[in-house]
Amino acid sequence: MTRILSGIKPTGNLTLGNYIGALKHFKDFQDSGEVFIFIADLHALTLPIDPEFLNQNTRDLAAFYLASGLDPKKATIFVQSSVPAHAELNAIMQNYLYMGELSRMTQFKEKSAKLNQSAIGLGLFAYPVLMACDIVLYDADIVPVGEDQVQHVEITRDLVNRINKRYGDKTLVLPNYQINKVGARIMSLSDPTVKMSKSDPKGDIFLKDPMNVVRKKIMSAVTDMGSEVKFDKENKPGISNLLTIYAAMREISIEEAEAHFVGYRYGDFKREVADAVVAELEPFQKKYQEILESGSYLEVLREGAKRADAIAKVTLKRVQKAVGLLDIYEN
Ligand code: TYM
Repeated sequence: MTRILSGIKPTGNLTLGNYIGALKHFKDFQDSGEVFIFIADLHALTLPIDPEFLNQNTRDLAAFYLASGLDPKKATIFVQSSVPAHAELNAIMQNYLYMGELSRMTQFKEKSAKLNQSAIGLGLFAYPVLMACDIVLYDADIVPVGEDQVQHVEITRDLVNRINKRYGDKTLVLPNYQINKVGARIMSLSDPTVKMSKSDPKGDIFLKDPMNVVRKKIMSAVTDMGSEVKFDKENKPGISNLLTIYAAMREISIEEAEAHFVGYRYGDFKREVADAVVAELEPFQKKYQEILESGSYLEVLREGAKRADAIAKVTLKRVQKAVGLLDIYEN
């Protein structure tokens, strides 16, 4: 059976970009494959984060996963740090990705550029090693992600090929990334030439925003010259982004979204985009609230950790053996 794995960092307020690019689609895999979805809390430590904030974000993310329609009977939902094999495999794998290739990672370059150069943690630099471990521990075939994570899945493939060449081609499974046709890169509403990220309150729609705020942000989204609602990333990045958001919400193609808005003025167009987002986010938010308040997510995470641990251990053992670490409990 196909194994699907993905994760999200509990670093801040989740955005509509995270939702469209990743979260919304995780449930689509749970009837056809074996799904592992985790909270990448160790990754959240690669940039400074307040402990209480991290703790709360972790709970939030568990509730968001469940609210998105992931069914814990079908999908294994867990917290990365609750499965020790991630950190253990990391200690091995850090020797097989090289400083040169790690220093060329776009995310590292972007994130480290914003930091005081003397305070860049080793974890930020070595981020792709841990991410590769997350993926290979579960023998994942498919890794659904947004566009910004593709490079990290590609370096995981390099690692797998390197390990398999050296220790035998059955050591690790080679994963493939999967990005959505619509919405693999949702842009900021205040500057549609940059990605919507977790740290731009004006340009982001946060999954926890009240609905009147969501509407307001969409109505004041930057648009472009001209008056036609047309998909043209180069000349109309703002309109193209809103069209993408609409298409993702309605689960239609960009062409269908464009056809729907022929003859619309920008104001009416934005109003309908806002309606579509609210129609999806409002019930989602309600479910999230209920799950969070019930505390039911904790039992899901405990059960998920057990299942994940059992699988991750087997891979870890296989790798330990392959590289020559002695198992003192075996003869
Ligand atoms: P993170 O937490 O930054 O983002 C979670 C997911 O959301 C996607 N995403 C977007 N998609 C479309 N438009 C956007 N503006 C946008 N912003 C974010 C991301 O591509 C991602 O799929 N390194 C990962 C977490 C991780 C992981 C893994 C993922 C750790 N280990 C193993 C897959 C497999 C991250 O930081 O995602």
